[in-house]
Order: sequence, then C-alpha cells, then structure tokens
Amino acid sequence: MDVQRHFIETSPDSMVSVMSAASLAQNAGFDAAGCQLIATAVSELCNNILKYAIRGQVMVRVLREGKRLGIEIEARDQGPGIQNTELAMTDGVSSGETLGLGLPGVKRMMDEFSLDTSPNGTIVRARKWRSLTSDV
Ligand SMILES: Nc1ncnc2c1ncn2[C@@H]1O[C@H](COP(=O)(O)OP(=O)(O)OP(=O)(O)O)[C@@H](O)[C@H]1O
Ligand SMILES: [Mg+2]
Repeated sequence: MDVQRHFIETSPDSMVSVMSAASLAQNAGFDAAGCQLIATAVSELCNNILKYAIRGQVMVRVLREGKRLGIEIEARDQGPGIQNTELAMTDGVSSGETLGLGLPGVKRMMDEFSLDTSPNGTIVRARKWRSLTSDV
C-alpha cells in the first residue's frame, strides 16, 4: 500500500501512524536516517493534533516524480487553527508550555513544507525526496 490514512485521537493512534510511516519510507528505499526524520515529523504533527485540535487525520503517501521518489505527509484537523503562523514557526514559541520546536522542526526535517490554517482547522503538508539515480 502506497497510501496510509489514520484517524488520530489517542496516542496509540499516533504510534500506529508513526510506525507505519517509517515502514512506508523504508519500503520506498529511504535510508535509516531518512526514515527516522519522516517518523519524527509524523510524530510531531500527531502530537499537535492531539494537543491543540483533539483529533484529526494523518495521511502518508509515496510520490513518484521522474528520477525522484518522495514521501508526503498531510496532517489535517478541524481544531481552532493557528492565529499567528509566524510565531508558531519560530523556534521556542509554544502555547502549550513545551519546547515549541515541533512545526519549525518538521520544516527543517523535510524538503517541502506548507501550513494552511484558519479558525476552521489546520492542514500541514510536508514532503521529503530521495534521488532514484543512486539505486543500482
Ligand atoms: N494543529 C494545530 N492546531 C492549532 N494550533 C496548533 C496546531 N499545531 C500547532 N499549533 C500552535 O502552534 C504552536 C507551535 O507548534 P509547535 O509544534 O512548533 O510547538 P509546541 O507544540 O507548542 O511544542 P513542541 O512541539 O515542541 O512540544 C503551538 O504552541 C500551538 O499554539
Ligand atoms: Mg508541537
């Protein structure tokens, strides 16, 4: 399966999503470090869903584009949204009294990142690519 969708409402849901993202990335040929980054990104996005939106969905899928292959993560929820996105993307800023490294961390760990948020909810999309030309 190249697409996974998980409803996230409890921490076991989030664990299932993280583990299956890691194995999807592994099957797509990402190295251990790449799989770890992708799993961590999913974990951060699940944590945010649980903490700020109560529940949501995480979709992870494999992308094929010419000589590269990617993993796309899409986390969406219908929570309260993020009022100040610039602030939310700043290291060390948290409304939840934790480290505030989640969203900026996801942006750093992945190659592409987008944040789409309104009072009706939040969608975070992130992609990580690997080159197919190094495959034998
Ligand atoms: N899905 C979401 N819905 C509403 N607000 C969110 C959501 N995700 C993040 N936020 C807001 O953006 C801020 C920054 O998120 P980020 O994940 O970077 O830090 P954090 O969750 O506060 O701390 P950490 O991830 O380090 O535990 C949060 O404090 C919260 O106010
Ligand atoms: Mg967070």
